[in-house]
Amino acid sequence: TQLPAFRNEPFTDFSLPGNKAAMEAALAKVKAQLGRDYPLWIGPDKIMTERRVESVNPGDTDVVVGRVSMASAELAERAMQQAAEAFETWKKVPARERAAFLLRAAELMRQRKHEFSAWMVYEAGKNWAEADADTAEAIDFMEYYAREMIRLNETNIHRPLTKVEGEDNRLAYIPLGVGIVIPPWNFPLAITVGMTTASIVCGNAVLLKPSSLTPVIAAKFVELMAEAGLPAGVIQFVPGSGSEIGDYLTAHPKTRFISFTGSKEVGLRINELAARTAEGQIWIKRVVAEMGGKDGIVVDETADLEAAAKAIVASAFGFQGQKCSAGSRAFVVDQVYDQVVERVKQLTEALAIGLPEKNYPVGPVADRSAYRKILDYIEVGRKEGRLITGGGKAEGNGYYIRPTVFADVGGRARIMQEEIFGPVLAIGRAKDYREAVRLYNDTEFGLTGSFFSGDEDRISYALEEMHCGNLYINRKCTGALVGAHPFGGFNMSGTDSKAGGHDYLLLFTQAKLTSRKT
Ligand code: SER
Repeated sequence: TQLPAFRNEPFTDFSLPGNKAAMEAALAKVKAQLGRDYPLWIGPDKIMTERRVESVNPGDTDVVVGRVSMASAELAERAMQQAAEAFETWKKVPARERAAFLLRAAELMRQRKHEFSAWMVYEAGKNWAEADADTAEAIDFMEYYAREMIRLNETNIHRPLTKVEGEDNRLAYIPLGVGIVIPPWNFPLAITVGMTTASIVCGNAVLLKPSSLTPVIAAKFVELMAEAGLPAGVIQFVPGSGSEIGDYLTAHPKTRFISFTGSKEVGLRINELAARTAEGQIWIKRVVAEMGGKDGIVVDETADLEAAAKAIVASAFGFQGQKCSAGSRAFVVDQVYDQVVERVKQLTEALAIGLPEKNYPVGPVADRSAYRKILDYIEVGRKEGRLITGGGKAEGNGYYIRPTVFADVGGRARIMQEEIFGPVLAIGRAKDYREAVRLYNDTEFGLTGSFFSGDEDRISYALEEMHCGNLYINRKCTGALVGAHPFGGFNMSGTDSKAGGHDYLLLFTQAKLTSRKT
């Protein structure tokens, strides 16, 4: 049977009363379940440990979202053995059957999508639209990778080998083995689901170590996969500390690959650890790492300035600037600079700040350490630029920071170069579009960028010169869609793994050629 073609899960329009009521009902339902305890999942066992990570609502720090069991190195070892055992049978399950688990899980998630979103409202501090987009992307990843696995399995049809008389030649993409999946907290459902399901649909077994900031929504995903009938042992759920089990598993000789999304510092550390060969190890570990960004928007004098200002504000402050795609820099040409800065200021000041549950456009940042770090960067910014708006804490029983804009920031300033991962925008002045593009490219990162112009020649110039994995013209630099905008960046942004694209599953497989005399 032929699957219908992939299409993106639509976003919910919460201005419709029915949708608003449904979301409110989901929030109430989830609220009644806050504060529960969650086990590890290791093979067939669910294990409640003494030590638990307490997940707190960043928007109201008196609220405990849940307490999630933490794995010790010993339990991580047990999980590794279970995964290795499960791999032996899972790898033999036909590709179409593996894909069917993802499709079933996608359907179950679709039926309860507002509930999944509500968990992220409480645990990650997302407003409704951000949470809804996260859930939609999670559904997309499962629908997309299911189809991709089927397509990859039929590679001899889609990408036939050269015919040789007297031979039957075939190429098969087989799984790698046991992988360690380490997703981030900022897309705690979408990226967790995408990284995990891409790995398993290829026939690998995994150890999923979620972020300590968002382990509850990750536990909900693991429960969902069990409900979809996924055999025990294909996913082990092992929250724990990076220094304790993250390093241990990365260095483990049975680890075949590590799929990581998070900061540059942690990504580089994983890459170094993984490069060492452990005793008894018989492969080179594969590292897939999606790391940081210092993404930006370039605006020239021929651009639609209103659209550009809106895109700058949406890219800088959507989910409080905590997307790896966030546009934390903008470069505007001299001729329209003051006008754009003024409009960015107005639009930023119109953003109300408050509790995610109540659906304010701006909510809290992730946790205390992010809060402190961002406030420190704002102090750095005061010395490096002209404060236009914001500049510190906001009211609320959580980690609220005012959306902050600095103008007249030089290209080499720290707030132009270092990833802040918060609601802080640095704007720089350029004499013309070429200088603006040069300033944009002056970074160690290369994830997303946007170019705003009405001039075809300049757009051609930008398309060629702006060096990033996801380059957008006359639109914001966040909000990549699965299938349409394969996502991943250059240089210190990571291994350009292009999640949500046709090349992604190749990273979790190895190709085996068979040639048979006929
Ligand atoms: N994929 C997200 C976006 O494009 C970021 O991780 O915004």
